[in-house]
This record gives sequence, structure tokens and C-alpha cells, in this order.
Amino acid sequence: MQTRVFEVSPDAPDNDSIQQAAEILQDGGLVAFPTETVYGLGANALDAQAVARIYEAKGRASNNPLIVHVSDIDAAQGLVAAWPDTAQKLAERFWPGPLTLVLPRKSHIPDIVTGGGPTVGVRVPAHPVALALLRASGLPLAAPSANRSLQLSPTRAAHVLMGLDGRIDALLDGGPTRGGLESTVLDLTTKRPTLLRPGLVSPVEIEAIIGPISRRPAAAKDADAPLPAPGMLSRHYAPRAPLEIMARSSSRVETLLAEGHVVGHLTADLPPGDPLGDAQRRLETGLAGLAAFQHLHVVRMPTDPAAYAAILYDRLHDLDALGVTRILVDALPQSEVWLAIRDRLSRAAVHAEDNEQ
Ligand code: TXA
Ligand code: MG
Repeated sequence: MQTRVFEVSPDAPDNDSIQQAAEILQDGGLVAFPTETVYGLGANALDAQAVARIYEAKGRASNNPLIVHVSDIDAAQGLVAAWPDTAQKLAERFWPGPLTLVLPRKSHIPDIVTGGGPTVGVRVPAHPVALALLRASGLPLAAPSANRSLQLSPTRAAHVLMGLDGRIDALLDGGPTRGGLESTVLDLTTKRPTLLRPGLVSPVEIEAIIGPISRRPAAAKDADAPLPAPGMLSRHYAPRAPLEIMARSSSRVETLLAEGHVVGHLTADLPPGDPLGDAQRRLETGLAGLAAFQHLHVVRMPTDPAAYAAILYDRLHDLDALGVTRILVDALPQSEVWLAIRDRLSRAAVHAEDNEQ
């Protein structure tokens, strides 16, 4: 299969490209498109065969449910069997935006979308290209992130093509995505709403609108523990190179370099006097550092969580492309503003052999 690529302006996508992509979807095809979080791989959510092709293209376990993207609150209400007050308030506050609400499904949604379960996840994406595609097709779009299963989510069209070129019908290239991290997933079918996946909308922001919610553990540390939600595999969002989270005072960089690794190091800007900052400056400037330097790719990350999230996957993709053999990431603060980022990094850091899928 040849994947057709349409380049579109992210702010004002050209009608003709959107129309062609919409027709592909109406015919049961697969179209990747940008959202404000990451690129999604869309299919008509009401067409079980089309949705089956998503699982096939991604190599994804079919018990892992998909988020259904819609253009507005009315369209979301058409898919769910109940629309509680909490849903209305959250949708008014955060849609279009990176919040997915899990609600009881209506029976016309195919089982393959919901993993056979009684609920469906819905969201209205805040991206002009995604909204134009939803409106032009007139369809609800089931869309997981547009990557092969268990790999890093794509924040650029090139990342989508790396995993899915030749496996999908079309790609709308609307440039890099702004948010960089997947949506927050909130289950509204439990007595107290439950955070299933932290994301760009924080628990505190949600609680300001609907009161207390339950937070599930940021990541399942024990690979043998039962999955807290369908499809919440502990290993996920991973670059090719093994990734380790590193205490700031550790000498892991030097150790791995001495072992002959090519190391990518994601570090926040550290002031002089910080032991790790100093070790790194030694490496970068010292004689010993000269030999090691070619094998060390230092990526300075922002100290603001939103800015960090926006570029994280992009930098991990870059390090993979450079051929690093190990990625080290400085441990992040324990505060809740870093929750979603810590969650993704701890999932990326689980080694492949820890998880059978
Ligand atoms: O930002 C995003 O959410 C991106 C863009 C494309 O919208 N999509 C995305 O989809 O990240 P995906 O399939 O990679 O992740 C969806 C997550 C999975 O962890 C899945 O288990 C959970 O949402 N999910 C979806 N429907 C659910 C449901 N009915 N019940 C529980 N969890 C659900
Ligand atoms: Mg994904």
C-alpha cells in the first residue's frame, strides 16, 4: 500500500486535502492526523472492519480500547449511554483539549473500539486539522497514537512514517504537535472519578471543576501486578535504546561511556556546584572528556514541565536516530506538575523483557 501524504497548514488546512482524507475515512481507510497532543491514527469508529485495520497497522493488542475523537459535545453525547453533570462541566472547561472522558458506551459502538468493555473513551481534540477532518468526514474517529504498538508516540509526520509508511492509507502532515504528551484519561463511571492516565490536564485542574478524584499509581512498578485499566501496559512510550532514570548525583554517564556505550543524556540545566552538572562539565571540557565527547549526546531540557513535555518525545526520537545505545534521564521532581512526564518516563524505563507484549 502506498501512503499518501498531504501537507497542510496547521492553522488553516486546505479544504481539498481535508476532503480527500475524509473520503478515505468514509471508505473504511486509515488516516493519520495531528492533534494538539501527538499524531493519531484515525478510522471510522462505527465501522468495525476499519477499526480492525488500526490494530493490524499498529500491531496492537485488541483488548486495548481506543479513544473516540469527536467534533463537539453533541457528538460525544451521541456515543454514550449517560452524560453526567461531571462530564458536562469538564467538557465545557477542557474541550476542545487534551482530556479523554471514559463513560458508559452506547450499544452501536463496535466491541473492537472498546476492547469489548462497557465503556468508551471520548474527546474533542484542540487542533484545526483534526477538527476539520472530523467535520468534513462527519464521523467519530477512533484514533490511538500513530505509532507501532509499544513504541514512542509521534510528534511529527516523519515519526509517523517511520513506523507506519506503507501500512496506512494517508497522513495529514500538519507539522510538529504542540503538547507533546498524550491526553489525560479520566474514568467517570467509577463512584469517584478515577485518573487512568495522567496527561496534559492535571488532576488539580480537574479537581477544581468537579471535586476530588482518585489517582491511580503513576506507573505499575511490578510487571506481574494486574493491569489497573484495560490496556495500561507498564511498558509503553519507549525509545529503541534502553532508558534509565538516574539520580542526579550518579556517575552512570561515566560508567556507561567507559563500557563503550553511546549515551544520550537528558538533563535539566544545572547550576555550577551541582555534582552532576560539574561531572558533565568535566566530561565536556576535560581531557578525558575529549575522547568520551563523541559518545555523549547531552540534551538540555527545560525546567518548566509544559515545555519539557512539549519536546520530550521529539528529543527521544532524535537520540534514537543518532544511534545512541543508552538513554539516561535525570530524575524529575516529585511534585504533581511533573506527574504525566514521570509516568511516561517510568513506563519507557521498564525493560522489554519485563513485559511479554
Ligand atoms: O492524546 C491522546 O490521547 C492521543 C491522541 C491521538 O488523541 N491518543 C492516544 O491513544 O494516546 P492511545 O490509544 O495511544 O491511548 C489511549 C489510552 C490507552 O491507555 C487506553 O487503554 C485508554 O486510553 N482507554 C481508551 N478507552 C478506554 C476505556 N473505555 N476505558 C479505559 N481506558 C481506555
Ligand atoms: Mg499510544
